[in-house]
Amino acid sequence: MEIFKQIAPLKAFLNAQKRAGKSIGLVPTMGALHAGHLSLITTSAAQNDVTVCSIFVNPTQFNNPGDLQKYPRTLDKDTLLLEKVECDAVFCPDASEMYPERSIIKFDFGHLDKVMEGAFRPGHFSGVGLVVSKLFNIIQPTHAYFGQKDWQQFAVIRRLVDELNFDLELTSVPTSREDDGLAMSSRNLRLNPEQRQVATVFYESLMAAKQALQQGKTVQETRAIVQTKFDERRVSLEYFELADSKNLNILENVKASDAPSGQPIMCIAGFVGEVRLIDNMFLQ
Ligand code: PAF
Repeated sequence: MEIFKQIAPLKAFLNAQKRAGKSIGLVPTMGALHAGHLSLITTSAAQNDVTVCSIFVNPTQFNNPGDLQKYPRTLDKDTLLLEKVECDAVFCPDASEMYPERSIIKFDFGHLDKVMEGAFRPGHFSGVGLVVSKLFNIIQPTHAYFGQKDWQQFAVIRRLVDELNFDLELTSVPTSREDDGLAMSSRNLRLNPEQRQVATVFYESLMAAKQALQQGKTVQETRAIVQTKFDERRVSLEYFELADSKNLNILENVKASDAPSGQPIMCIAGFVGEVRLIDNMFLQ
């Protein structure tokens, strides 16, 4: 496995692969890798000749400086994990390599970045759009892989690829979960043992909400069920929404006619102590 900190040698390596007609799969990450990331790598490896994993804690997508500072950084452990799967190259630049100058470009994804995560993390998706565009331009992958856990991010990146004509295929890989249902996330590393136990409330609430909505409860009634579960565990609920999975329009009921994609998705966010977690689940 090749490890690159700089753009120029990475490009030289990739250009040789492209001249040989090889397909390139990109798995963008911010490190602190877990089994969920590894499933993105193995999906890419099964579909491409060459798989590149980028590891970069992107400062422009953090609206909270404390969150950026506390984001787990475990590069040595990450590269050991990547050695064991079929990852061919790691790109782990410093911030000065990605942003030699303070960036002035901003993205506005319209409605896609005004709801849910966008409402609670202003500027977040602009930073994601920026770094993902840079990675797509540097690596020029034929395929790119993202986790379903960050569904809104996937919807935003799909729009970015469509509008800016990036010549690549996007894949969303289903969320990997712990045995008790907790969605795998690098942020889980910041939970103490007691917080780790109560964090299952996200998955349990989504399961209960799915049942409630399928039984005909309104979103409002379902949100009240979710809120009670969070209150019981003393976990703070930021939002619970039902949305169309493609255009992210917020739905007030589950009528298929309200969701042009035909696939409503439940999205949830909250804080366990200081640690912000998100999760989601398709209704069908
Ligand atoms: O999902 C993430 O880990 C990040 O948002 C991404 C896509 C790597 C961009 O920094």
